[in-house]
Amino acid sequence: MTSTLERGDLPPEIVTPPPGPRSRELSARLAAHEAPTVNTLGPRDEPAIVWRAALGANVLDVDGNRYVDLTAGFGVAALGHRHPAIVAAVTAQAGELLHGLGDVAAHPPRIALAERLAALAPVDDARVHFAISGADAVEIALKVARLATGRPGLLAFDPGYHGTTLGALAASSRGEFREPFAAWLRSDVLRLPFGAPLPEIEAMLAVAPPIGALLVEPVVGREGVHLPPPGWLAGLAALARRRGLLFVADEIFTGLGRTGARFAVEDEGVRPDLLCCGKALGGGLPLAAVVGRAPLFEPLRRAGEALHTATFLAHPLACAAALATLELVEHERLPERARSLGARFAARLAAAAAAAGVALRGRGALWALEFADGPAARRFAGALAARGVLALAGGATGRVVQLAPPLTIDARPLDAALDIVAAALADLDLESTR
Ligand SMILES: Cc1ncc(COP(=O)(O)O)c(C=O)c1O
Repeated sequence: MTSTLERGDLPPEIVTPPPGPRSRELSARLAAHEAPTVNTLGPRDEPAIVWRAALGANVLDVDGNRYVDLTAGFGVAALGHRHPAIVAAVTAQAGELLHGLGDVAAHPPRIALAERLAALAPVDDARVHFAISGADAVEIALKVARLATGRPGLLAFDPGYHGTTLGALAASSRGEFREPFAAWLRSDVLRLPFGAPLPEIEAMLAVAPPIGALLVEPVVGREGVHLPPPGWLAGLAALARRRGLLFVADEIFTGLGRTGARFAVEDEGVRPDLLCCGKALGGGLPLAAVVGRAPLFEPLRRAGEALHTATFLAHPLACAAALATLELVEHERLPERARSLGARFAARLAAAAAAAGVALRGRGALWALEFADGPAARRFAGALAARGVLALAGGATGRVVQLAPPLTIDARPLDAALDIVAAALADLDLESTR
């Protein structure tokens, strides 16, 4: 099928104010048939922009507007949308084996991917457990930690996001997600502030019920982009070792280059016991994995039925896409690209953000602007979309606009997008002085 986008390195072009008439019409159709929790209507019944195609750093909507995507599709499109090598790998695999037999029968891409991922991850004596989604990977890590340590308790951090399935939700911090299901969530999660002083963490652990593992995002992503204090992750890993806790790194957002290292824990020389990755791993197809030290998985070994599995486990298309992705992470030098993007973001946005009284923070290709309140953040994201830049408003406080471009974004769309963000910040500055 030919796409309506022929290149992925163009600046934005808005031909009709988004969401345009076609987006509105399709949003209304969707709202009439899809459950309200998952339809594309926003919380205030604002119709959504309906995506038609995406390539590289560009997204085209059904009204013919072209955007620069500073969401990278929730961080998935680290290599840009529809990277030709990934499309080729998926197409070739579709001609061989479209669906297999999950954990019962293996297939070559699953085998090659397990080898590759185990070799790549900063985990000793690594084994790979595939998962369908990020939340599924977190569920697996929590189950493995439970069985390997015999201790049910978990240390998690606030803010932190690990997914919305019940185990992952219990570890996630946001009340808005947790409260409707509070009665179903495990009560043995000790949640401490992200970046809390290590002696405080140690003191809390001394009086807590038996805790087997800690679960941490090395850089907090979805909940607002928070960087750990320097040395904190290494200190946390040392503390975990001292107290016999498994260190579980949630690198679902940060993994494969996003923050400027192949895995963010590597910045501090941390080698986790279990590491969850997802998002970028599948190159656009749903795939996640837990990479962990071999002995930790031993309690899962049993004859007969797998303890944690799924019909689509290690899906052939997703494994083929992930293999191509891992090759490209090296070939395209993604961590290095993320570092130079980080320098670009800081250089272009720091002064504009400061002048507008908006906090700017980030690392590599993961940045946040924090506004005075949620409506201001949403208005800002709306103003960006109106000028052709896609960015997500939200985070734990609701006050953040997250900027997370594809790591392969070219100078032309990047500069155009940063100019638009800086101009929107300057408009705020003007508004406040008026
Ligand atoms: C750090 C982190 N962990 C887990 C998840 C959940 O992943 P998924 O949405 O694929 O279930 C996310 C998703 O944003 C994430 O950012």
